[in-house]
Amino acid sequence: MSLSESAAAPAPEPPGTPAQAPVSLTRFLLEAQRAGAITPDLRLLVEVVARACKTISIAVGKGALGGVLGDAGSPGAASINIQGEAQKKLDVLSNEILLEANAWGGHLAALASEEMDHSQPVSDAYGRGNYLLLFDPLDGSSNIDVNISVGTIFSVLRCPKDVTTPGDEHFLQPGSAQVAAGYCTYGPSTMLVLTIGHGTHAFTLDREVGSFMLTTRDMRIPEQTREFAVNMSNQRFWEAPMQAYVGDLLAGTEGPRGKDFNMRWVASMVADVHRILTRGGIFSYPLDRKCAAQGGKLRLMYEANPMSLLIEQAGGAASTGRQRMLEVQPEHLHQRVPVFLGSRQEVEAAVEYHRRADQDEAESRA
Ligand code: AHG
Ligand code: MN
Ligand code: MN
Repeated sequence: MSLSESAAAPAPEPPGTPAQAPVSLTRFLLEAQRAGAITPDLRLLVEVVARACKTISIAVGKGALGGVLGDAGSPGAASINIQGEAQKKLDVLSNEILLEANAWGGHLAALASEEMDHSQPVSDAYGRGNYLLLFDPLDGSSNIDVNISVGTIFSVLRCPKDVTTPGDEHFLQPGSAQVAAGYCTYGPSTMLVLTIGHGTHAFTLDREVGSFMLTTRDMRIPEQTREFAVNMSNQRFWEAPMQAYVGDLLAGTEGPRGKDFNMRWVASMVADVHRILTRGGIFSYPLDRKCAAQGGKLRLMYEANPMSLLIEQAGGAASTGRQRMLEVQPEHLHQRVPVFLGSRQEVEAAVEYHRRADQDEAESRA
């Protein structure tokens, strides 16, 4: 049995174990550790992130009763993060929960967050581990105040060898170097979706017990789809190939695609990606004239890379439209990129529109 198979397949049950015994996240990770798929430190890291997500889930679930809705800062003096975006109270709280949970385990070298200007080395008072953790503590935060699903996204890299004081530059590794990635969605149920590089697995929080329980082993995204996710209000700002691609989707059975497409847009990437992982689809936040100067809207290190690893591990594809996402070499921590991810054949179709447009342009210039 290969390492991949041993990490994804259920371990042999000892005699007398009831059929299909529930598998907790703890058991899943321990079995992966025994199979050699993860180190004890990576197991601890994922457990710590999962525990922080449970705390965030409780805060999100309290809503107005917890006094956690609304903007951070004071009236007239909104708190603005490094992204230039106004922070919600829950953005700040979720960031603090993740920082505190990861401060003392000795499993991390440093962490970086969408909500912080720079990465932070962890104190070496508790020993310093070999991993770098990146997170979007609360994704979709514009949806908090209207009680729509939000989430947390995280990505794990190795700290380069011989680095004693990790800085931002040590995080600048392509997404293919991630050793784990995942998200937690705070929706009707709280779910953790995780990859440790051997498939993508979904766990549902048993709120009474307080444990994440494995509910889907080895998620698989259908290769084809009739559903797309994009913010259509940006249509007039898109590049020509995106205009052409979505134009053909909207033309339905009468257009070149020969089938009708449905559209969904939650505006929480976690919720949109979770739907696509579950039933297929293509998610896109393309380049548009409003975000072109920044390179795109979504963040490579906190959003695009972890989601792309999860999607690829479930048989899907992820691209900037012009390059496989996981091969993008980051130049800075808060870098933004255009994003296309989901059902393999649909992502390839969107990429083909970009390839053809670029080729036509190159030929017209020659
Ligand atoms: P965040 O709340 O972490 O800043 O992320 C919001 C992102 C992403 O979750 C979502 O897909 C996208 O922004 C929505 O953008 P629009 O509001 O432009 O549709
Ligand atoms: Mn986000
Ligand atoms: Mn966020």
